[in-house]
Amino acid sequence: MHRDIEKILLTEEQIRAKVAELGKVLSEEYRDKNPVVVGVLKGVVIFYAYMVRAMDIPCQMDFMCVSSYQGTNSTGRTQISKDLSCDIAGRHVLILEDIFDTGNSLQFITNYLNTKQPASLKICTLLDKPERRKEGVTVKCDYTGFTIPNEFVVGYGLDFDEKYRNLPYVGILKPEAYQK
Ligand code: IMP
Ligand code: MG
Repeated sequence: MHRDIEKILLTEEQIRAKVAELGKVLSEEYRDKNPVVVGVLKGVVIFYAYMVRAMDIPCQMDFMCVSSYQGTNSTGRTQISKDLSCDIAGRHVLILEDIFDTGNSLQFITNYLNTKQPASLKICTLLDKPERRKEGVTVKCDYTGFTIPNEFVVGYGLDFDEKYRNLPYVGILKPEAYQK
């Protein structure tokens, strides 16, 4: 285990089993629909790479990147720093996310993608932290890997200060690691 990690919350094995399970469900849901699988960068990259290989159906891969700017009050403002490369009008769209936290980013992304009139729009998130949800967030995830407690986690794509993304598990960071 990495020295900055206090506890492993989800092992590689647990995540592997969950990805396989979700892959079966999503393959059935999207069979013959050639969905556009939209990954939300950068946190999703590891989950995305495993997830699309767990789906044994044709699909198109695309990515978005959004950044949020936290003002002095708690209203986060979100903007697109990388948009989709393809047209999703009339297409079945599946968003893949690393974590559903306050919900601000997914709310923003779904509002935006819905303006492009996809045939359907669903969300699959690896992690959900329901205790953190912000008031006014109405978006819901259709598929969730794991519901986790209100702890800051890293690994399997998730970072703190752009570190720890390549850890193969999801772990809770030691408080000392924040303070460094
Ligand atoms: P939101 O608060 O639901 O909009 O989540 C925004 C983004 O914050 C997520 O996509 C993650 O990249 C990041 N994030 C939220 N919670 C955590 C965490 O516990 N560890 C690392 N990144 C997180
Ligand atoms: Mg992040």
